[in-house]
Amino acid sequence: MSEHDAVEVISAKRDRQSLTDSQIDWVVAAYTRGDVADEQMSSLAMAILLNGMDQREIARWTAAMIASGERMDFSGLSRPTADKHSTGGVGDKITLPLAPLVAAHGVAVPQLSGRGLGHTGGTLDKLEAIPGWRAALSNDEMMEQLESIGAVICAAGDGLAPADKKLYALRDVTGTVEAIPLIASSIMSKKIAEGTGALVLDVKVGSGAFMKDVDRARELAGTMVALGTDAGVRTTALLTDMATPLGRTAGNAIEVAESVEVLAGGGPADVVELTLALAREMLAGAGITDVDPADKLADGSAMDAWKAMIRAQDGDPDAELPTAREQHVVNAPSTGVLTRLDAMSVGLAAWRLGAGRARKEDPVQAGAGVVWHARPGDAVTEGQPLFTLLTDDEHRFERALASLEGGYDVAPEGTDFTPDPLVIDRIG
Ligand code: URA
Repeated sequence: MSEHDAVEVISAKRDRQSLTDSQIDWVVAAYTRGDVADEQMSSLAMAILLNGMDQREIARWTAAMIASGERMDFSGLSRPTADKHSTGGVGDKITLPLAPLVAAHGVAVPQLSGRGLGHTGGTLDKLEAIPGWRAALSNDEMMEQLESIGAVICAAGDGLAPADKKLYALRDVTGTVEAIPLIASSIMSKKIAEGTGALVLDVKVGSGAFMKDVDRARELAGTMVALGTDAGVRTTALLTDMATPLGRTAGNAIEVAESVEVLAGGGPADVVELTLALAREMLAGAGITDVDPADKLADGSAMDAWKAMIRAQDGDPDAELPTAREQHVVNAPSTGVLTRLDAMSVGLAAWRLGAGRARKEDPVQAGAGVVWHARPGDAVTEGQPLFTLLTDDEHRFERALASLEGGYDVAPEGTDFTPDPLVIDRIG
């Protein structure tokens, strides 16, 4: 006889009770080994979504998910470690310039990343646009690269928090992704198991993000910061806007090109601003507070770290990036000021053009995506290009154009308009 049974645990949460440590340990372990069925775990996940969990329950749930797999250990490195996690957004290529920028300060940045699903892109899909680049590294290769170069962006192995892998797939098909205790424990179990010393969380808010409103985003950020801090990881969070997509591109190769512009000392102002804000948090977490990270974008050392990082993973940082076979331009309908550019509409358009995938086994097109030629606050002239849509398959334009419809507003000339701030709040 086991200590607990699934119906007892589900009923307790259904009746708004706090689960005991022992109930949590049991249900997570039993689900991972297959003794609790998917239908039972989906019922429990829905009870958690509806009735919540207190901080003790969330911390215990996180610990149980960590205990389901291996823990990595970076304590043998001569550099301090700092990592970043974004809850996901449109045009969010920040990891690409950020990892080498922070590494250029002598910090090790282990970015265990994923592929994209749905309208938000995946970091690995973007880097795979670079000829030759390889996402899979052994643990030894990763450690060696962290010691010598400092930055690694690679595929997360299956060993970290396998309970989360199984539960996340279940939540995805049962309408239970949005539960704050489950999101927080999912993200933090992987980050704590990874063993980073410092962590900055970029919690996105707005139409293109999981969290559509700022109060829920603040609650998620606070929950994750508490989990990290209690586990001994120096953790902070920035709440950042995802009503508008980041930069000027959403896709794979085109986001790499934009990141390289930032590393060369240029690039869109918002991408530079967020890269520097997150770099400051990571550096502070690693004990480095007396520097301005902008200097290492200006003097080329972040670019040197980028090239070394790409070469170490068999990529050619100087090779031409793939381009799409077809393009379609959308012109501004009137003269005035762009006052809204909706992240979700742009993300869906890029996805429909082939930059993202519908099922996890689908391929992505390296050259596909959307370039926007104005950002909220910019003046536009009737007939000027507003968007360039890129894809290898002409038949994709129609559905991509449909997702952009209603996704932007041009107000009359002279309209007084100030864009919302990019960094909304800091927690930690
Ligand atoms: N990202 C994760 O890893 N887990 C979630 O639950 C949501 C976003």
